Amino acid sequence: MTLFGRGRTTVGLDIGSGLIKLAVVSHGSGEPVLTKVALTQVVDDAIVEGEVMDPGLVADAIRGLLASAGIKPKSLVAAVGGRDVIVKKISMDRMKESEARDVIRWEAEQHVPFDMDNVELDFQILDPEGDGLQMALLLVAAKRELVDNKMALLTEAGIEPSIIDVDSFALHNAFELNYPDGMQGVVALVNIGHETTHVNILEHGVPVLTRDLPIGTRRFREDLQRERGMTAEDADQMLQAFDTNDALTPFLKSRGEELGVGIERAGAFLQSSSRSSSGLSRVFLSGGGARIPGLSAVLAERLRLPVQIANPIERLRVADGVFDTMNVDEVAPLFMLPVGLALRTAA
Ligand SMILES: Nc1ncnc2c1ncn2[C@@H]1O[C@H](COP(=O)(O)OP(=O)(O)OP(=O)(O)O)[C@@H](O)[C@H]1O
Ligand SMILES: [Mg+2]
Repeated sequence: MTLFGRGRTTVGLDIGSGLIKLAVVSHGSGEPVLTKVALTQVVDDAIVEGEVMDPGLVADAIRGLLASAGIKPKSLVAAVGGRDVIVKKISMDRMKESEARDVIRWEAEQHVPFDMDNVELDFQILDPEGDGLQMALLLVAAKRELVDNKMALLTEAGIEPSIIDVDSFALHNAFELNYPDGMQGVVALVNIGHETTHVNILEHGVPVLTRDLPIGTRRFREDLQRERGMTAEDADQMLQAFDTNDALTPFLKSRGEELGVGIERAGAFLQSSSRSSSGLSRVFLSGGGARIPGLSAVLAERLRLPVQIANPIERLRVADGVFDTMNVDEVAPLFMLPVGLALRTAA
């Protein structure tokens, strides 16, 4: 029996360096419905800088997570991200999509600093209805090794992925569904993970620039341990608490500076490199680091911009009982990316 129509469901699997997260979305009834979420911890250093150092361990964790969630995925979406993935808005002579497919590799050469023999390319025409001589394209290039490694990891976990997506697109999809009003002007989606902060800048809803900053909850924790002599557990507790802590605020001010500068630079770069864009108008935070009490306020003050925590179920329908075993306010920002992945329907 399936609960929602004929139950076309997609499993989104986000293999983070701190937590592996999955979200299941049913597409059967037309409107997407979130039917399950689950997460499991990853041992420190099993994944470093996006690279899986211990595939056996991570594959086991994935298998365990799927089993405990009672899922045998038919259609699974995972993603690649990081500095070996490039998302770029480019323009080229207007042509049909099929024709563009034939020449994209040649076209991409001028935009992608990778060895073109070992790169996977994809694109989307942003103005298919346009009639100018030029058309705008969103180009994605990922080092093939990255995609191959992800596939090998999933195979080891007993999964056949249907789609390998790109992190920034998944975040964008979750954002688009939940914050349709946020699709105006220039906004930054900032996903603060365990090791990496991913900055994704959208202009009128189109991702135009991505940047990765080597800062995450792990650094916050380790700095608290070193500077304050706290245990890892106490530091984690402080970072995952609901209330601001007087001891935490000055620490966040100095650490938030680094994040703030990274976000600001990405915004400034965009402004200098494209004629049309205005400056950043809003910032949305997601990921485990979004929850650090007081961080969004510190960033808002630093950037002099509204900063809010993004919620993947702000508008997305949620089936009964999905968050029964978790505190939804605690975990919601962590599920932005996996929900975005699960919003994809397999072709
Ligand atoms: N309820 C929670 N359970 C576990 N960790 C939490 C919770 N709330 C916040 N955290 C923090 O969130 C962090 C993980 O965040 P997130 O899942 O976004 O990172 P990740 O995707 O694993 O990392 P990265 O994207 O850098 O590879 C943990 O390291 C922890 O500090
Ligand atoms: Mg992450």
